Amino acid sequence: MDHPLVAHKLTELRDSRTQEPTFRLLVADLVTLLSYEATRIVRVEEVSIRTPMAPTTGTRLAEPKPLVVPILRAGLGMLEGMIRMVPTAEVGFVGMARDEETLRPTTYAERLPKNLSGRQCFVLDPMLATGGSLAGCIEFLASRGAEDITCVCLISAPEGIAHVREFTEQHHIDCTLVVAAVDDHLDEHGYIVPGLGDAGDRLYGLID
Ligand code: PRP
Ligand code: URA
Repeated sequence: MDHPLVAHKLTELRDSRTQEPTFRLLVADLVTLLSYEATRIVRVEEVSIRTPMAPTTGTRLAEPKPLVVPILRAGLGMLEGMIRMVPTAEVGFVGMARDEETLRPTTYAERLPKNLSGRQCFVLDPMLATGGSLAGCIEFLASRGAEDITCVCLISAPEGIAHVREFTEQHHIDCTLVVAAVDDHLDEHGYIVPGLGDAGDRLYGLID
């Protein structure tokens, strides 16, 4: 997303001097800005209302309700900012942790509606590195019938974008990706450079 406010906040977010409380606020601000772009295609319906002056026709978010899916842990930091903008949304959860040796994700939690056909799904994860976690989550949603998936990430690597694109094309999944930045590359440990380090740790502290 090419916008001066996004660029400004992203720079503060990347800065290693930014402490946890400010980091969390910046993540929330950024997802609010990105949600504007990500929800351009959200389904709406016409509604009749009455203002103090006259009856009129307006717009409201349509049923079935959109589903927002943060990928735990770091995606949780984006949840509040997103549902503030999409207040009718329901929330499903997927917990994934990347093995730091193999860089492959394992799924340790999953709480999603069984049937997602006809639902618009919005996946939240601040970091798209190798793309393994995001592709895994997209696979979960598609296996439950989701056909309309939008992923919102803050920082991405070209390698991760290529992986997700290849995966979704191969499986004929309609998926849109909205990112605040595409960085240079992944390092030998699968971290995005320049990136911002470990998003989960910067939001919630170190886990052994
Ligand atoms: C981070 C991040 C993504 C994933 C990206 O989560 O939040 O989910 O890594 O890497 P990938 O594109 O190579 O899969 P992590 O597994 O570190 O867990 P955490 O959110 O609990 O810190
Ligand atoms: N996960 C993160 O939190 N940061 C990275 O740079 C890569 C994966």
